[in-house]
Amino acid sequence: MPEPKRLFIETLGCAMNVRDSEHMIAELNQKEHYILTQDLSQADLILINTCSVREKPVAKLFSEIGVFNKKKKPSAKIGVCGCTASHLGEEIIRRAPSVDFVLGARNVSKITEVIGVKHAVEVETDYDESTYAFGEYRSSPFKAMVNISIGCDKGCTFCIVPATRGEEISIPSDLIVQEITKAVGTGAKEVMLLGQNVNNYGRRFGAHNEEINFTGLLQKVSKIEGLERIRFTSPHPLHMDDAFLEEFAANPKICKQIHVPLQSGSTPLLKAMKRGYTQENFLNRCAKIRALCPEATISTDIIVGFPGESDADFEETMKVLEQVRFEQLFSFKYSPRPLTEAAHYEAQVDPEIASARLSRLQAHHTEILDEIMGAQLGKIHAVYFDELKPHGRIAGRSDDGKLVFVEGSEALLGEIVDVRITKSSRGALDGEVI
Ligand code: SAH
Ligand code: F3S
Repeated sequence: MPEPKRLFIETLGCAMNVRDSEHMIAELNQKEHYILTQDLSQADLILINTCSVREKPVAKLFSEIGVFNKKKKPSAKIGVCGCTASHLGEEIIRRAPSVDFVLGARNVSKITEVIGVKHAVEVETDYDESTYAFGEYRSSPFKAMVNISIGCDKGCTFCIVPATRGEEISIPSDLIVQEITKAVGTGAKEVMLLGQNVNNYGRRFGAHNEEINFTGLLQKVSKIEGLERIRFTSPHPLHMDDAFLEEFAANPKICKQIHVPLQSGSTPLLKAMKRGYTQENFLNRCAKIRALCPEATISTDIIVGFPGESDADFEETMKVLEQVRFEQLFSFKYSPRPLTEAAHYEAQVDPEIASARLSRLQAHHTEILDEIMGAQLGKIHAVYFDELKPHGRIAGRSDDGKLVFVEGSEALLGEIVDVRITKSSRGALDGEVI
């Protein structure tokens, strides 16, 4: 048997990139035997799965390629994959000729073709992989990530993703069910349904058509025997109709954690972002979630310093934070991106003002988080244990997404067990199995 090859893979960005990396590993392994390595100098193949949502990681890419070149074996190949590959294409090879190939976020299935072609560039964004049968590889035996759609049609004016991941296409529901059933058969009790805009599921199918929306998909998936937990990311506030929220609240397999990306609390700014909802609509949806499902945790994404954001606009964002009391906040300073409308808007906000707003937002969120986590003491959570930690500890997630540690052994791995919380901190909880 030939020696296995060693693969070093760096994955930046969103959950979808994490799944794309798994798909690439699976595809590579169908042709040759690869084993993963964390040691760059040992690698035969180096993949950088990039994110282009903000400017910083893109700028870092070229310096990173320089560093990798110094450390790697002379024979090792470097591939740049993901959204920056889609967006910059051939320019990557021009700026960094040591890169062997460039593979876009929409072309993952072509990984085994491009590794053999010096300076191959595959970045077509209208390529339809929605029915491609990827090989099997999952980084965790306990939890499966499954794509339900690719691309995004929304065209938020700040966001480069529609330009890098192309038009939105839903994956046939039977294929989704098949894939989850397979993962459950090998021990996964939890699935994370992935898409840029999951609750717009059913909008368009590539190869064939069917009449099903996200609520229908959730109902179908929850019939899979042995599957105990369903999560999904990311939904869009615009598509949170009552039927979906009622399914979310009533279906016992759906984890009670929901991401409701706000972006801004100011209605005029939401309009400039082309988000399709107002502050009032947004608050109404969050109130509906709280009414139907008081135990649910709500997380969000917020951008500060979008062009034209005044102090008054920012105060509206603070107001929504205060009202909804998001448990998790992913907050970013606006970063102008090529191929987006907002990059051409006048009235770009002074970066220092944006930084000051970001700090204020994050400081207030930290206070809210401390209160939420402090209130967990004595509570009981059902925790799905999936990770052994040093010093006889084991970690897992509660149904509502909190990280929980207990003292315990391998015997708990893959089990969902009730835990009483004995200690809380900002990022995690400690407890004891009851
Ligand atoms: N639908 C996807 C959105 C991908 S982008 C999802 O929910 O995962 C992820 C987040 O990055 C967005 O919600 C937004 O808050 C942030 N983002 C996107 N473009 C940005 C930009 N130009 N500047 C700063 N943050 C941005
Ligand atoms: Fe981006 Fe808006 Fe789609 S944030 S991924 S264009 S929903």
